[in-house]
Amino acid sequence: MSEIGLSALLSPMTIDDFLISAWPDQPYVNHELCESIATLKSLPFLQSLEVLLNSWPKLVQAHLPDVSDESSAVDVTPQNAKKLFANKMGLLFNNVQTISPELATWLAAIKSDLGLPVSTLARCMVYATPHGKGTAAHFDQNINFILQLEGIKKWTVAPNNHVENPTERFTIGQPVDPELASYAAPVMPTSMPHEDRQEIILQPGSMLFLPRGYWHCTEAEGEALALNFTFSQPSWADIFLAALRSRLLLSPEWRELADGVSSANQALRAQAQEKFDLLIQELREDIPNWSAADILAATEGEYKC
Ligand SMILES: [Fe+2]
Repeated sequence: MSEIGLSALLSPMTIDDFLISAWPDQPYVNHELCESIATLKSLPFLQSLEVLLNSWPKLVQAHLPDVSDESSAVDVTPQNAKKLFANKMGLLFNNVQTISPELATWLAAIKSDLGLPVSTLARCMVYATPHGKGTAAHFDQNINFILQLEGIKKWTVAPNNHVENPTERFTIGQPVDPELASYAAPVMPTSMPHEDRQEIILQPGSMLFLPRGYWHCTEAEGEALALNFTFSQPSWADIFLAALRSRLLLSPEWRELADGVSSANQALRAQAQEKFDLLIQELREDIPNWSAADILAATEGEYKC
């Protein structure tokens, strides 16, 4: 029986070797896939763009030529997507696992193989890219395992010296998300960074692991079709905030409306601040009893070291 999950994408490398040598912050490319991904390659809707467009029950995202990125896109019917692709626009089929129990199984298996938090969002996307087109230089807040299905795709990738562990994506030339701007370098680059950049050529059967935050841009040679397994990266802050919110919501006082905090009446604002201080004081007394094991038991289910 064929393998399912991360071992099939890494073969012949083992998951343990990948976790030591690449995960979570070094790109890894594998050009040796064939037998191990036979089940994926046999999925009917992945046989060609034509078949995918004919079987796709939802809208398709078409990337507009101004930016060539998902930050500038329109949702169109599969019929219109076919015309836009012929006019050199890239297409994105999002959440492909919703039409494929097999892909949903793959996502769950990879998530488990990586030991990702329960709250990780996992999805499959298919990118169709016309000859000579690709994506503008950007980085993502997610990780991607990219499996090239058809055509050739040239990837230019570079480590990110502008922001570590981004929680939002960013495309060069586009506005910086306010949350990202709060901790990123004050000036973002205006073109794909050169330092330590690498070129990677993906052919049908190649797989690229692209870490979170890694700069990348792409260009297709021939019409290219690629399947992405994408996983969000819940941080320690996310885990802690989820537990904190659950804990606070047990209290009717914490569930109360934060009344008066922006009141024009100064006395009401002072009253609100005093009440909030009391709640924080109560939390301060509770926090010393918190432990990682208790929080993880709540967020990750049955948790044992
Ligand atoms: Fe990307």
